[in-house]
Amino acid sequence: MKTNLSRRDFFVRSSAAAIAASLWPGRMFADEAKGEAGEFDFIQVNDVHFTDPKKCPPWFEKAFAAMRESAPKAEFLIVSGDLSSENTDMELGGLKDLFPLLKIPVHVMPGNHDTAADGDQSHFEKNFPGALNYAVEHRGWQLFCVNSAESRAAENTKIPAATLAWCDDNVKKFDPKKPTILSTHFPLGYAIARRPKNADALLDKFKDFNVQAIFNGHWHGYSEMMFHDAPVTTDRCCSRHRSNHDGSPKKGWFVCEARAGRISRRFVCAPAELLKPAKDSAGY
Ligand SMILES: [Fe+2]
Repeated sequence: MKTNLSRRDFFVRSSAAAIAASLWPGRMFADEAKGEAGEFDFIQVNDVHFTDPKKCPPWFEKAFAAMRESAPKAEFLIVSGDLSSENTDMELGGLKDLFPLLKIPVHVMPGNHDTAADGDQSHFEKNFPGALNYAVEHRGWQLFCVNSAESRAAENTKIPAATLAWCDDNVKKFDPKKPTILSTHFPLGYAIARRPKNADALLDKFKDFNVQAIFNGHWHGYSEMMFHDAPVTTDRCCSRHRSNHDGSPKKGWFVCEARAGRISRRFVCAPAELLKPAKDSAGY
């Protein structure tokens, strides 16, 4: 029987049917990987905005101590961008100097506040060499940290072409079956405010991967959407200097557990003494 389905229709409808049957490729890979991937804990935080060389260090010393107390077995920390407020060496270096307090590897990526108006990210690269776009393998999992900031602009942005090109060159070197985590500063969840105009182009690079979580920032507030099996989240900021876009007085981080190829997640609020609005606080 002749049909009028275009190739595009076929793809869309086939995918829809597969998703409906929980048979999209990532799901199949996830099931295959179940029980094979390592078990570990980690922490994710976004929008820490180190700002003041005197006021921020004691604030972060307490925040980092609370982080480790909330997840004593955490094996790494993901910082999903906006390490600084004004993209200065003082801010980026000031935060970097505090990371050893955590006693675990820290995987960072730049946010728009770590980027100049013309797109220059040399301060970030100087303080965090090789951290624009990279992947880390950890106990059978894969973590991709990629640069989603094209400039200081906060909205109506595009993920840089260099990031998409990096993905084209590198993602194929990794195993799509392995459970995978993706993190960018700008939110990738559908319909989330300030989502880059070409967010789909980045997600497309991972469409056949067993993605289990996508961690974002930029939107200082909690949100959760889905990309296949993966929750796509933003979280409240963890900044002494800046507040939340959603009005929440809470600041904190996610403690995550990787178990049997899946990730569970809980929000941990920073100690009350760290939640008092700073006298020099900024809106975002
Ligand atoms: Fe931010």
